[in-house]
Amino acid sequence: MRFLVVGGGGREHALIWKLSQSPKVTKIYCAPGNGGTGDLAQNVSIQADDIEGLLKFALDEQIDWTIVGPEIPLMLGLTDKFRQQGLKAFGPSQKAAEIEGSKALAKELMFKYGIPTAQSEAFVDSKAAIDYINKTGAPCVVKADGLAAGKGVVVAMDVATAIAAVEMIMQDKVFGESGNKVIIEEFLEGEEVSILAFTDGQSILPMVSAQDHKRAYDGDEGPNTGGMGAYSPALIYTKEIANKVQQTILEPTIKGLAAEGRAYTGVIYAGLMLTVEGPKVLEYNARFGDPETQPVLMRLETDLVEVIEAIDKQELHLLSLKWSPAATVCVVMAAGGYPGEYGKGDAITGLDKVALEDSAVYVFQAGTKKEKGQLVTDGGRVLGVTARGKDIKAAVASAYKAVEKINFSKKQYRKDIAYKAL
Ligand code: AMP
Ligand code: GLY
Repeated sequence: MRFLVVGGGGREHALIWKLSQSPKVTKIYCAPGNGGTGDLAQNVSIQADDIEGLLKFALDEQIDWTIVGPEIPLMLGLTDKFRQQGLKAFGPSQKAAEIEGSKALAKELMFKYGIPTAQSEAFVDSKAAIDYINKTGAPCVVKADGLAAGKGVVVAMDVATAIAAVEMIMQDKVFGESGNKVIIEEFLEGEEVSILAFTDGQSILPMVSAQDHKRAYDGDEGPNTGGMGAYSPALIYTKEIANKVQQTILEPTIKGLAAEGRAYTGVIYAGLMLTVEGPKVLEYNARFGDPETQPVLMRLETDLVEVIEAIDKQELHLLSLKWSPAATVCVVMAAGGYPGEYGKGDAITGLDKVALEDSAVYVFQAGTKKEKGQLVTDGGRVLGVTARGKDIKAAVASAYKAVEKINFSKKQYRKDIAYKAL
């Protein structure tokens, strides 16, 4: 079967790495891909938001399956447009993907179907939002309704910060139209866990748990990023909590979406807070998480194509996923300055050493490209150095041993990925 993977980050490299192990796969393309995806797939220079370009390519090249990595093409209706042309695309419809695209819609769904989440109010008027903050006080969380590349959320410990966030989102329009509406949310305390799950719209099969590290610097300090590292499993995520999440969150989410005419297929990601009152939803994403996908897929022993086919036939209930008992850790190596301004075009060295010396490590590439045969930096998050070990401690040790062998100018990475689990 011929595959097209849409996107060009570490998540897409991990998807390609996993697909390339399937005996059912004969050819993989990646659009637009990165310096690493080109080793396992053929990169095609079509951007992930060029839906017409992707559609034409998939038709011309007789692609059997298109797998969508990022949220933008989903919001632009890629899967709907492909299906209209008789092509198979893995991911939710535009309408279903709105569960990520509009936080207000996600909250309405949760309230309506009794899915545990933080209390919240939505506002289209900044003055009303500010009055509400003055009345209810801090701490609280201010969120832009629409997509904001993971930066539209301000956790405000005092009223002044919360009001400044409303002004930034609604008046200064830092995230453009995404800030037409804000959500003011109750502040939840607890540990965060990411649960990615496969669903065919009827049954929902969670993957192993993972924890992301969203802040830029050690000790969860500094600005929010796309994710500086992740590991699996999240040791605090017990079987008991997993059962509760299945019954009170995952199943009602899928049922609720279907009842709302937004039947969901593909991968859904629930960002959870494990509070003293039980697990609550912080957000949904309509796709695989990045960087969670890197450590999670490294543990998946089942052929990913089998899962995709089971979802297509609505036979997910017949499948059980096989997972490696190993622990996995992904350390993101970023360009100096990220998530602010950073340089590009710096030579990356040492990957060959890692590949030769440690078979339990795989380096998923993100912001990289090949320039005259030399791998160079080409984005904020550059590499996701991912290692397997008998436990988290062993996986952490191998990941950092590999990180130290890799060099590029002004590299930046957290030294405490998975520290909470140790
Ligand atoms: P989100 O994009 O909604 O997941 O928010 C980004 C980050 O903000 C989350 O990963 C949490 O760390 C934090 N956050 C979001 N909502 C809340 C909340 N209600 N209480 C505490 N922290 C939150
Ligand atoms: N790691 C968070 C995300 O993929 O949105």
